[in-house]
Amino acid sequence: MWFDLAQLPPSDGYKLLSATIVPRPIAWVVSASPEGVLNAAPFSFFNLFSDDPPVVCLGIMGRGAGMKDTSTNIKARNEFVVNLVPQRLAQAMNETSVEFDYGIDELAQVGLTTVPGHLVGVPRIAESPVALECVPMHFLELGAGRVIVAARVLSVYVDDNAVLDAGKCHIDTPVLDLIGRMHGRGEYAYTRELFTMLRPAGKPGSPGG
Ligand SMILES: Cc1cc2nc3c(=O)[nH]c(=O)nc-3n(C[C@H](O)[C@H](O)[C@H](O)COP(=O)(O)O)c2cc1C
Repeated sequence: MWFDLAQLPPSDGYKLLSATIVPRPIAWVVSASPEGVLNAAPFSFFNLFSDDPPVVCLGIMGRGAGMKDTSTNIKARNEFVVNLVPQRLAQAMNETSVEFDYGIDELAQVGLTTVPGHLVGVPRIAESPVALECVPMHFLELGAGRVIVAARVLSVYVDDNAVLDAGKCHIDTPVLDLIGRMHGRGEYAYTRELFTMLRPAGKPGSPGG
């Protein structure tokens, strides 16, 4: 059965796409207002789109006809940090999706702590094992406060426990125990169950995911 999205309300398009494009990694974005008030919110319209240059994209929808606080802050400060979400922080991540008033520090509200930025003026979440310091490269405006942010990743923090060989940049991904967003109103996936499949031998390798 085909679903023609132009003939359906956006809420049905959301249901079809979010139920099938799974699992989606979750960007737990820390941003700051011009006054320096911190903000944290999760976004599963998120992924890695290029390694050279290193680019991630975020899809931030609107709030009414206006922007969510994360968009406002990223546009104002031109920097943000994507923290990734291990299973043990799922509840805290979920709590930061509550629409707090602008200027309320969601991290403090849910009892999380921060560590000052490495190359940017926004901190990472201390409890998260991975953080990506980002600067926006391009804003694709989708109307009514909705925007896709393509951002260059300046630096990657990985918890020492998950670094197998720093010189070779080898990471123990399963140790990170990251979760993904699945379908429905509240289904999530673990990233614990794996299988191995190498690229076909004898074919020229090409960069990319
Ligand atoms: C797991 C999860 C994923 C989410 N993904 C998105 C997303 O990709 N885009 C979006 O606009 N909102 C998403 N939300 C909702 C935002 O987190 C929510 O609107 C939040 O209040 C925005 O905060 P802000 O106004 O501080 O930016 C998601 C919520 C959860 C729990």
